[in-house]
Amino acid sequence: MKHVISPLDLTIDETSHMLNLADKIYNDRKAYSEKCKGMKIATLFYEPSTRTRLSFEAAMLNLGGNVLGFSSAQSSSAAKGESVADTIRVVSRYADICAIRHPKEGAPLVASLHSLIPIINAGDGGHNHPTQTFADLFTIRKLKGRLDNLKIGFCGDLKFGRTVHSLINAMARYENNSFVLISPAELRVPQYMREGVLASPNVSYVETNNLEEVMGDLDVLYMTRVQRERFFNEEDYVRLKDSFILDTKKMEYASKDMIVMHPLPRVNEISPEVDSDPRAVYFDQANYGVYTRMALILMLLGLDKD
Ligand code: NCD
Repeated sequence: MKHVISPLDLTIDETSHMLNLADKIYNDRKAYSEKCKGMKIATLFYEPSTRTRLSFEAAMLNLGGNVLGFSSAQSSSAAKGESVADTIRVVSRYADICAIRHPKEGAPLVASLHSLIPIINAGDGGHNHPTQTFADLFTIRKLKGRLDNLKIGFCGDLKFGRTVHSLINAMARYENNSFVLISPAELRVPQYMREGVLASPNVSYVETNNLEEVMGDLDVLYMTRVQRERFFNEEDYVRLKDSFILDTKKMEYASKDMIVMHPLPRVNEISPEVDSDPRAVYFDQANYGVYTRMALILMLLGLDKD
């Protein structure tokens, strides 16, 4: 039985297989509408979510399956003090596969150690968010035609942004990608990433706090929200939250085929006027996430063979 806690839990070949399957589903969704008939996904969300939870549920419903779960810790027995280990021991007897989001780094990994069914990490604290990464990879491959030889700018909260951490890990496995890490000094990528993935010989990166200066060189600009819920105090959040605001004026610095991505939710970091720019692809990106989640569910349930 396989769990997906980090994007690296799928090999490069398995990742290609998942993206190819997602493409096939995208082109003919009806053909997959009964694949998970009689099966259930449990969505255990101890932290707020719109897209991730609903896209997991949409994915399972599109596959002909059903969904059960909770959308806040308060509405589950966590509020009574139940451990993640005990919750999953029970839930894995009720469902066939489980997506879990938790504010504590490592909670989905703990769940996987006590589970009878495949566990998918739907976001653990500031750590990882593999299924957002799969949606991101699908978006980049579809719109840029490749996953290698790209210059990717990550802008905003690179310290707490789990979508950034996961996507850097995933993109570092492909040839000749380089990263431009754009953030205020306080929100730079964590030390463990600088010493780990970013130190590997095939990775090149620069760090800056000047978005305009680097825009023109980028193939992909990945904007992120400052992660208020992970700050220790409100003053720091207020001081840093509007460090970068992408507007139509700044978009003039970008090449005509750069794409702007964002995992959403957006707060202020992309001005709504940018939405109508054809290079703004974040709503398509959210749509693609349903198809990559459908593909992943099929793979983890062993239903991906024709
Ligand atoms: C992201 C997350 O939860 O990490 N949202 C998402 O799942 N699409 C990004 C964020 O909350 O800023």
